[in-house]
Amino acid sequence: MNDPFHLVPQRASSMAGAVDHVFFTVLGITGVTALAVTATIIVLCIRFRRGSRAERSPPPTRHRGLELAWTILPLLVFLGIFLWAAKVYSDFFRVPPDAIPIFVVARQWMWQAQHDNGRREIDELHLALGQPVRLLMTSQDVIHSFYVPAFRLKRDVVPGRYQTLWFTPTELGEFYLLCAEYCGTEHARMRGRIIVLSPSEYARWLAASQPAPGMAARGAELYRQYGCSGCHDPPSTVHAPRLAGLYGRQVHLQDGRTVVADEAYLRDSILQPGKEVVAGFASIMPSYQGQIGEDELLQLLAYLQSLKEAQ
Ligand code: CUA
Repeated sequence: MNDPFHLVPQRASSMAGAVDHVFFTVLGITGVTALAVTATIIVLCIRFRRGSRAERSPPPTRHRGLELAWTILPLLVFLGIFLWAAKVYSDFFRVPPDAIPIFVVARQWMWQAQHDNGRREIDELHLALGQPVRLLMTSQDVIHSFYVPAFRLKRDVVPGRYQTLWFTPTELGEFYLLCAEYCGTEHARMRGRIIVLSPSEYARWLAASQPAPGMAARGAELYRQYGCSGCHDPPSTVHAPRLAGLYGRQVHLQDGRTVVADEAYLRDSILQPGKEVVAGFASIMPSYQGQIGEDELLQLLAYLQSLKEAQ
């Protein structure tokens, strides 16, 4: 485990370098400014102390050059920092297409992860060195926050919606996973470890579990179990939208809007089917709110996403 008493934790993800550069640049600029202001105050206090023979004639009240300089220079510096930091931040949302999905459910007080092949773990997350991953996260109860200092990553995990987070681990080893949002009595103990293995070790670790159905296969089972197939699959006489190839596509709604069928849309369609009704269909689907667990929803999602790949 990395030493928690280092001033700056190890940099162990693809994001860490960029975040550190912004942080230390801002720290440097504000630090130098604070020192310069403090030094000026001290020098002026000494020079103009009572009884000193300093020159005290009235100062100039206007100096256009000076005023322009102290307005424009800081503006340029701050805009520069803003553009740079915005670029770093937007990279957090530019998920590479080869990122592998991992499904994370937070609850009081543990982190549950499910890998694509169905392997589950609690308070641990095994990853492969150099392999980009995309975490799809949600909470079963209150707001938690997924925080890995060594990766310079923190994202709130909110009940009722999906948050995604992508990164590439760049160092082998074990790293703290913390919850950074006060979520109840045991919040301080809601901790885990991220274990970064070499790709071959990771493959061995993934395969070492009891053979279990993968996420999509479990989703397919739920799809039948909850009766989704009864309406949404071809032999059905119910007028319901077909779901193959739906994920990631644009959907036209009854109220004239167009939305992208992402994870949030699919989730809402299952829990609040009346919210976004597809154009040309009646709002006849029952809500599954309260009947279906967060991990089951993620499995259903994995199944619907796999239908896209099959097309
Ligand atoms: Cu979960 Cu704090």
